[in-house]
Amino acid sequence: MLVAPSILSANFAQLGNEINAICDASCDLIHIDVMDGYFVPNMTIGPVVVNSVAKVASKPLDIHLMVDNNNFFIDLFAHLKPKYISFHIESENHPHRIIQKLKSLNIKPAIVLNPHTKPDTIEYLLEDLDMVLLMSVNPGFGGQKFIPSVLKKIKELKQMINKINPKCLIQVDGGVNETNIKVLKEAGVDIIVAGSYVFKSNDYTKAIKSLKK
Ligand code: DX5
Ligand code: ZN
Repeated sequence: MLVAPSILSANFAQLGNEINAICDASCDLIHIDVMDGYFVPNMTIGPVVVNSVAKVASKPLDIHLMVDNNNFFIDLFAHLKPKYISFHIESENHPHRIIQKLKSLNIKPAIVLNPHTKPDTIEYLLEDLDMVLLMSVNPGFGGQKFIPSVLKKIKELKQMINKINPKCLIQVDGGVNETNIKVLKEAGVDIIVAGSYVFKSNDYTKAIKSLKK
């Protein structure tokens, strides 16, 4: 299991130190939640802060866009060479075009599904994807409760992936902690995002380790 701490729950007054601390604590990716106040009812960080994060990060960036205009935000972040950029299927009329754009920029494309969106929606895109992110909370905020119905969806998606593109990874984001990590692993999840569970703990190494084992 790979672990991507979401910096949304970090102490933003100490952001550089927080990034160093999760990198030292053996995280695999740094999950960055970008919100525009339209697609989701919250705003987080933009290019100025993400540029600073990229300067101190010693682990690859995993940028999760929760925005209406994916194209605009991809142009803002492409020069940082993130490993993944994920965008919501619910906010994009031309997902195939966005996937091809990300590939041409050498960024691994990932699509995000909100809790109510069926995996079938992306069946014809799967062969071109490196990762699918299933939201296990309604996007917009850290610290929410895990929605258990996502477990059925993980299993459905896993079957589709096995048939169409076994190399595509499954990521789950929202309300992940030490109590639900086991079922997520059993269901076939490859990468988990954890915000409050990691950053509200007093030992990041211990918290990340407890999700990896
Ligand atoms: C929610 C974000 C998540 C969030 C996860 O919109 O996409 O990445 O920060 O936080 P926790 O782990 O606290 O649910
Ligand atoms: Zn996220």
